Amino acid sequence: ALVNTKEMFKKAYEGGYSIGAFNISDLEQLQAVLEACKSRNSAVIIQASKSAISYAGMDTLVAMVKAASEEIGVDCALHLDHGPSFEVAKKCIDAGFTSVMIDGSHLDYEENVAITKQVVEYAHQHNVSVEAELGVLAGVEDEVSSDVHKYTEPDQAVDFVNRTGVDSLAIAIGTSHGAFKFKGEANLRFDILEEIQGKLPNFPIVLHGASAVDPESVATCNKFGGDIAGAKGVPVDMLRKASSMAVCKINMDTDLRLAMTAAIRKFLAENPSAFDPRKYIGAGKEAIKATVEGKIDVVLGSKDSL
Ligand code: G3H
Ligand code: 13P
Ligand code: NA
Ligand code: ZN
Repeated sequence: ALVNTKEMFKKAYEGGYSIGAFNISDLEQLQAVLEACKSRNSAVIIQASKSAISYAGMDTLVAMVKAASEEIGVDCALHLDHGPSFEVAKKCIDAGFTSVMIDGSHLDYEENVAITKQVVEYAHQHNVSVEAELGVLAGVEDEVSSDVHKYTEPDQAVDFVNRTGVDSLAIAIGTSHGAFKFKGEANLRFDILEEIQGKLPNFPIVLHGASAVDPESVATCNKFGGDIAGAKGVPVDMLRKASSMAVCKINMDTDLRLAMTAAIRKFLAENPSAFDPRKYIGAGKEAIKATVEGKIDVVLGSKDSL
């Protein structure tokens, strides 16, 4: 069944672990994530961006997630990732999502407060959880891009949470989206996370842009015809440390994309006569499943949280 994030965040906060939030846009990615979480008995958030929803079709996506959750036997939250407007968030809530993000991080502060309040008011009437974002991650966020990090300001985070009534908050501490996160050494501002945690006790924090960008996936892509240069992700020990702190939701998309692409490239290169999509997409699915199991074990610490 589909559930909201309230219970899972409460348990994650108290238990010093995080729930994985994995982006999906098709059947096999969805099955891979749910099967991995079933095998680890782990709570999970399935998330889809506006563009992923357009790709799959709103009603198809919601029906597919509900059915797969029942058939595989794992409860999950269905979450809108980077909701760009009240209208999109409302559409998702009306269609059956159990959690939505309203991303007003690129607006000015008062506008971010206002749009977040508007979404919270509608969502809470429908028992749907709301995530907002304060601070700006460098790199591309759906349709908007920024060259520099605008780190979250702790006192502003306190004001924002109090005024909006939001259920969780994504913060900027140095991560970014995609496969190219750091030019030099990886560095996360744990001092900012610690300060926010101190000022907002028991409040769940969300970390976006948290793929580790597994060098093995990148190498396999490149070995079998790919061309991905200079990729760099967040070191796994930093992610585990964040999980043990106020961070209760860790977003990963890039690592699943890379794992699937690497496995499909390899399968097709090694099986030139194959043309049954179930065979090569199936190889991609198995790779995502193994990736998600690894995240639960090494990054999230969410085993047996269901
Ligand atoms: O944060 C963005 C997610 O990785 C989703 O990306 O808009 O290409 O689906 P997308
Ligand atoms: P990655 O690009 O690091 O996987 O982050 C995904 C994300 O934050 C989705 O909201
Ligand atoms: Na945590
Ligand atoms: Zn994100």
